[in-house]
This record gives sequence, C-alpha cells and structure tokens, in this order.
Amino acid sequence: MAKLKLITFGCQANEADSEKIAGVLAEEGFDLTETAEDADLILLNTCSIREKAEHKVYSLLGTFQKLKAQNPRLKIGLCGCLAQREGERLKTRFPYLDLVAGPGAMIYRIPSLLKGGSNGPVLPRPKEPLPLYIQSPRPRRESTCKAWVSIMEGCNYLCTFCVVPYTRGPERSRPPGDIMAEVEELLRQGYKEITLLGQTVNAYGKNLKPRTRFSDLLKAIDTLSGGTIRVRFTSSHPKDLTPDLIEAIASLNSVCEHLHLPVQAGSDRVLKRMGRHYTREDYLVKARALREVVPDIALSTDFIVGFPGESEEDFRETLSLLEEVRFDSLFAFNYSPRPLTPAAIHPHQVPEEVKTDRLHLLLKRHDQIALEQNTGRVGTIEEVLVEEGPNTKLQSSATGRSRRNQLVHFSEEYLPPGLTVSAVITEAYSHYLKAKSR
Ligand code: SAM
Ligand code: F3S
Repeated sequence: MAKLKLITFGCQANEADSEKIAGVLAEEGFDLTETAEDADLILLNTCSIREKAEHKVYSLLGTFQKLKAQNPRLKIGLCGCLAQREGERLKTRFPYLDLVAGPGAMIYRIPSLLKGGSNGPVLPRPKEPLPLYIQSPRPRRESTCKAWVSIMEGCNYLCTFCVVPYTRGPERSRPPGDIMAEVEELLRQGYKEITLLGQTVNAYGKNLKPRTRFSDLLKAIDTLSGGTIRVRFTSSHPKDLTPDLIEAIASLNSVCEHLHLPVQAGSDRVLKRMGRHYTREDYLVKARALREVVPDIALSTDFIVGFPGESEEDFRETLSLLEEVRFDSLFAFNYSPRPLTPAAIHPHQVPEEVKTDRLHLLLKRHDQIALEQNTGRVGTIEEVLVEEGPNTKLQSSATGRSRRNQLVHFSEEYLPPGLTVSAVITEAYSHYLKAKSR
C-alpha cells in the first residue's frame, strides 16, 4: 500500500477536510503514515488565516524538498486555503511541488490531479464548476467517538480582517437530506458526539429552497437520535444568534450547553471597522438572553487585538467586555494583516510589540477569570465523554470533555475512550478540570 503523510494546519474546518482527503486517498490505495521519510506522498493541508501558519508551511516545504532530492518518487502537494489563495504563484516559487488544490469540494479532485504528471505542480482548471458536496468516498475519521459534520462552506460576512471569504468562497449550505444521511450513518456506527461545522454555522440554510433554519436542522438531528448523541456546532456569528436558535439550545437534550460566539473586540468603533454587523451592546444582550434560558451555559469566544487603528481606549473596552461576560474559554490573536483584505492596507497599523503587550494582558486576565469560574465548579457533577486514554506527560489516566466543552482529566481510574461517565469535579485550573468518575 502507498503511504500518505498528511499535515494539517489551522482550524477545525481544515481538520475535517483532512479526514476527507485521507478518505479520498484511501480509495486510491493510500494508508496514513506518521513519518515523512516513509511517505510516497506528503500533503500539507494549509491555513491562511494568520501569517504565522504560512511561514510554518514554507519552512516545512524546504525540509521536504530535501527528502524529495533523496527519493525522486516522493510526491509533495499543497491543499487548503494557502494553496487556493496563491495558486499559480506557488508553481514558480516551488517548482518541485506535484500538486496544488484548494479546500472544500476541490478535495475530490486530488486523485485526478495526482495522475496529471509531475512537471511542476498540477493545478485545478480555474473555471471548472465544482460540485459543492460529494458524499462518497467517506472521510477517514480520526476518532471513533467524535465526528465532524460539515454543513456549509464559505462565508458571506467579509469581515475586513479575514481572508476566508476569498479562499473558501461565498456561503453555500449543504442540503439537509445529505446531512441527515451522514448523521444517521454516524449513529449506526456508534458515534457519541457530532460537531456541525461551518464558518458561520448558525447562518445555515439561507440559500436553501425551501429555506431550512439552523434551529430546524438541530431539531431534526435531535429527533433522529432520540437525544442520545451530543451535538455541538462551531463557529457561530453573533448576528445569527436568533431567538429560535436560543430556544433550540435551551430545549433540545442533544445540544450541549456550550456556545462558541466570536466577539473579536469590545469597542464599537473597532467592531464597525471590522465589519462585524453588531455592536458591543447587541452582543451583550444576546449573551444575557442565552444565559437567562440556559443559566449554566459555557461561553467561549475569539478576540483579535491590535486591529488597525485600535487605541488604548478601544482596548480597554475589550478588557471591560471580558470582565462583563466572563468567558469560560477564549482564543485571542494578534491581528495579522492578510493579503486581499481591506484592513491590511489601513494606514494605522498597530506596532507588533503593542499587540503582544495587549494580548498578554487579555490572556492574563482571562486566566484569572477562568480559574475563578472553574473553582466554582469543584464538587459539581458533570457528564464527561472520554476521548483519550492514559497520557504520562499530563499524568492523566484518561481525558475527556464535559457537555460544557471543558477539558477534564482523570488521574486514578482507567476509562476507555468512547465511554460517557458521570464525574465529580475535584480540582480546578484555568484551562482544565480534574475529576473522579462516580
Ligand atoms: N466565522 C467566525 C466568526 O464569526 O468570527 C470566525 C472564523 S475565523 C476563520 C477564526 C478566527 O480567526 C476569527 O474568529 C478571528 O478571531 C481569527 N482571525 C481571522 N482573521 C484574522 C486575522 N487577520 N488576524 C488575526 N486573527 C484572525
Ligand atoms: Fe471570517 Fe468574518 Fe466570515 S471572521 S469566516 S469573514 S464571519
């Protein structure tokens, strides 16, 4: 069997795409390998959201070029958002590449692109119409208990800092029948948790005829599973957090008590220039409405610090939003100027050291808040889905996630992955909890 070394960068959408790539190539006789030296084909599934991820890709390519010099039969390819954005330019810069293919439906063209010869990279023809979703072949899923289910591609929001709409295209929703068939299959296979994926997952269905609301999809999945499977979804856009969705989160047993709701900034001036389509107050009102009906819900978010023109006062408003919402977890990033995006050519770029100072302040305060919140959970009982076995580095015998999406480590008993346990929280840290099964 031929060997495939697949390296994934970036977001969950890319992780899901990598499982599809592995599935597509399994049909072509490729088995996964951990070591690049063993591989017949090395594919880098790239991310373009921040500059750092791109640098990593370029430096790895240098390493793999050396491997190819020793083994001319080795093929090297780039997939994902960086490949989509740079296309032809990669051909000149890295002539030893054998293949360049974008994300989404482009994945299903990888086998034919691979067969296209190797005088430089083989690119998809730009004008070729692409089917949005093809169900077969199946993704090769990494976990036997948790599964990604992509329900939409692309994004229509065009936030002024974000490259995604240019690499993944406009918003397209997957037909509900296709999604339900995939969920049915996952239920049959005994999966315990699914995560519905989309760049703005809760905007699902706007372009479907007849229109299907995201909350309708959640209800259909809940009914199909009889509430027996855990359902998560990410990422949600605050503008699309509608009353019917809040009601669905509150009433459906299968939907976990956690929402990832990227806010990006706490200042209205910055939110407006980011093109986010909500104000600080809009966000706070929605967070309150959610907590009113699901009091124990965990909220997580994304922040960008140092967006062009962000003043000290703007940043203080971000800190004060953090104090007000008290998120359970968050991701925060220095603003990274991205090609094609309007913010990248804004005249008032914030110096890197200012961004980094702000990032440290934000993360430090969040860690304190998270520790306080987690300390309040000691003694509570949580339902935990075990995802991993023993880990000596972490000194844990098993690790899982609560319905609130918190990382939970067990230290005494062996618990097999896939088991759902009722656990009592014994210790709290900023980023995880420790527990004992009951
Ligand atoms: N759709 C989601 C939303 O509603 O915001 C976010 C998807 S985006 C691909 C994931 C996260 O990357 C964003 O929430 C944002 O915080 C971060 N991000 C996107 N562009 C960025 C940039 N240019 N610099 C730093 N972080 C960025
Ligand atoms: Fe990016 Fe904004 Fe869409 S962050 S993925 S353009 S909602």
